[in-house]
Amino acid sequence: MAIAKEILGASLLEKYNVNHWSKPVPRLGYLIQQHQSMLSSYPTFFSSSKRELLQRNNVKRKAVATLNIKDQSTGVIVEEPITYKVNALVNVRYDKTEDVKEMMLQVFAAFNNSTQRALILQLLSTEIDPRTMAPKMSKETILDCSKNLIIGAQLVAYKVEFVVDSSFGVPGAITIISRYEKELFLESVIIEGPYLPWETPAGLKELREEELGQLRGDGKGLRVSSDRIYDYDVYNDLSNPDKGIEFARPTLGDVNAESPVEEPMHMYVPRDDAMDRCKKEDFDVGKKKGMRRNFVPYLAAIADKDAFKSFSDINGLYRERSSFDMKSPLAKVIGKVQEFIQLHKFDPPMISTDASGCLRDDEFGRQALAGINPLSIERLKVFPPTSKLDPSIYGPQESALKEEHIIGDLNGMSIQQALEKNKLYIIDYHDMLLPFLNQVNCLDDRKAYATRTIFFLTPVGTLKPIAIELSLPSVGPNSQSKRVLTSPVDATTTWLWQLAKAHVCSNDCGVHQIVHHWLRTHAVMEPFIIAAHRQLSVMHPIFKLLHPHMRYTLEINALARQYLINVEGIIENNFTTGKHSMLITSAAYKNWWRFDLEGLPSDLIRRGLAIRDQTQPHGLKLLIEDYPYANDGLLIWSAIKTLVQTYVNYYYKDPSKICSDSELQAWYYEAVNVGHEDLRNASWWPRLDTPEDLSSILTTLIWLASAQHAALNYGQYPYGGHVPLRPPLMRKLVPKEDDPEYAKFVADPEKYFLSAIPSRFQSTKFMAVIDILSTHSIDEEYIGERKDLSTWLGDSEIIEAFYRFSMEMRRIENEIEKRNGDPKLRNRHGAGVSAYELLIPRSRHGVTCRGVPNSITI
Ligand SMILES: [Fe+2]
Repeated sequence: MAIAKEILGASLLEKYNVNHWSKPVPRLGYLIQQHQSMLSSYPTFFSSSKRELLQRNNVKRKAVATLNIKDQSTGVIVEEPITYKVNALVNVRYDKTEDVKEMMLQVFAAFNNSTQRALILQLLSTEIDPRTMAPKMSKETILDCSKNLIIGAQLVAYKVEFVVDSSFGVPGAITIISRYEKELFLESVIIEGPYLPWETPAGLKELREEELGQLRGDGKGLRVSSDRIYDYDVYNDLSNPDKGIEFARPTLGDVNAESPVEEPMHMYVPRDDAMDRCKKEDFDVGKKKGMRRNFVPYLAAIADKDAFKSFSDINGLYRERSSFDMKSPLAKVIGKVQEFIQLHKFDPPMISTDASGCLRDDEFGRQALAGINPLSIERLKVFPPTSKLDPSIYGPQESALKEEHIIGDLNGMSIQQALEKNKLYIIDYHDMLLPFLNQVNCLDDRKAYATRTIFFLTPVGTLKPIAIELSLPSVGPNSQSKRVLTSPVDATTTWLWQLAKAHVCSNDCGVHQIVHHWLRTHAVMEPFIIAAHRQLSVMHPIFKLLHPHMRYTLEINALARQYLINVEGIIENNFTTGKHSMLITSAAYKNWWRFDLEGLPSDLIRRGLAIRDQTQPHGLKLLIEDYPYANDGLLIWSAIKTLVQTYVNYYYKDPSKICSDSELQAWYYEAVNVGHEDLRNASWWPRLDTPEDLSSILTTLIWLASAQHAALNYGQYPYGGHVPLRPPLMRKLVPKEDDPEYAKFVADPEKYFLSAIPSRFQSTKFMAVIDILSTHSIDEEYIGERKDLSTWLGDSEIIEAFYRFSMEMRRIENEIEKRNGDPKLRNRHGAGVSAYELLIPRSRHGVTCRGVPNSITI
């Protein structure tokens, strides 16, 4: 086995892409000079210096496998080479086309007379054959790409075998000759076999270390786009004081941070982690679509720079079906004009309204469990809630909520009884937002409260909002900084209640975006990804397991730092938290985030939404039984956990190897101590001593990169695309009777409401952005799909585990669809209620409000 593996040990060269548009005329083949999906100008993975290193090593090496045979004439034992087959997977990418006819024409053009046409592949050794003084070569392998072609598929994998003998040595290159008339894009050639560090074939040990050293770099110099170096720096490049005082922001971390990078410059991302052409094209199309959809509203906004005039005015932003009879010439012209206008409009979001165009109470409660932010709801353990903020700075810690505000909504229960029966829930943004409100409310176009919303769990399992507390910072001992609104009883309180709910939604929108979405998935994953590239060889089985879960994340985070979270970026301009957004994120990370509580079961327990119960599926009892995010999420969580446990137990049959695996320990140590340096001394970091520890850490990471991010990301437009229902910011406070504006509010409450939410222009800008953020790219890879299965061709147990995982994702898809059709599950089903599909594993391209990609790709 060791012998075979040494030959297969070409996995160090794995995914070395030939990655060229292969030319149509026979020619000398390519040397393997590139790493995955990089363009031809990119420096080699298997650089000339590395090849030299191999050659140096091989001078001293013996043949990698031999059969000892006694020479009958001399009686001397001689070594006879043995023949081996080396399996490889060749991935060929075809032109993107949605037109089947065009695809077939391409195929026929490419494979005309295919018996005469094929790719000829040969594996080259790094050693010279002493008889010929040329490099040792495998036998020719012929690949006929016209076979097994799937019409419509963009990437087709072909399995090939290289036949070599045991004296072949270490593979160093592949030659490829194309006998096709049209060019082909050969994306990669993958040769099987992961190795733990101590299993590394002797000849590859030095190479393994050498490559990790190259990926780590020496911490010096400026990065250029062709570099493959992974290193850390501080996220403090978001402000730009050189442009003016308004572009300065407080230092959040190390003062020696990176400098801001502005368009058209691109932020450095290691070349192997840059988006490939397909994803980039998709991203650019999304940006253009966003600009186009903002075009018509923009023209309208020139005439009307302020508020929407009516709720029906907002409906005009969305696309409609044409009702014109297209047969008459006039209708055709009108139809074309209408088509143009429709093209520049938004798709209708899925969220539904009440008759007046506002958010209904039942939908407000439902979204706490099945919306785009299902992570803020908590069980209320003590009433009234109290603040933990310093009273000398932020005023009394007591809430303004009193028994009288909620007792009438508890179905005859006392507050104590309601608490004991787990009937009271809260979304509490008081302590997170209050410290920043004075600065936010100084701005002309932002007005915000720190809100608390109390919900009652009704006998049918839905959440009913019963009280909203609106808090402002205390300005003096007698100031009225807190007020409570309760369920409405007349026309005036109905509109005040709608305004209060809109303020809660604007809090929720901000916290969802900058804490749950950005911090808890995008940002916290990055150190683990950087550490994985720096400390785990590409040959390491844990790197291979994590690889699809790290795809595109570094680049999308770099783009976010350039366009989203930067000074005057999309987050600052569109969300309540404005220029304090990253301060709030930073405070949440420092004071609240804990890696050990980021797994789904731990998070549910922390929020009081579940208790341990081994008699229940997943060992958890949910206190709100119909909690769609939690119920669907637990299916995926358990499947990930099972896969990871199988994988870890397969590679670490001896548990003590976890501690002695130097690469694994270095990965985790560095992710915690360097990547998460500010929290390195926290006592809650899990240990990494046993296979159970490793399984738990990996399950959490894969969960965060896949399902957790999907649940928080892909519903942003479908749930947030109707701005009055989920405004990302508010421009006015809720009026009080003694306010000068109160009379205006009473005279025309709809107009007042529309003047308090974002303007038409702010709204369409925001809608364009979240439309892009909610889009699945055409080359998305969904959970349960792996393109690298051939890596484990020698490990059938692992192949089977991935297959079972994939089948489990299909089963989960069916189970979620079944749940969505169950009328008893009122939080995911009802009149006008769109089903909760955010955790359905697969999706088509576009804004679909479903689909769980393997990694954070947008
Ligand atoms: Fe995202």
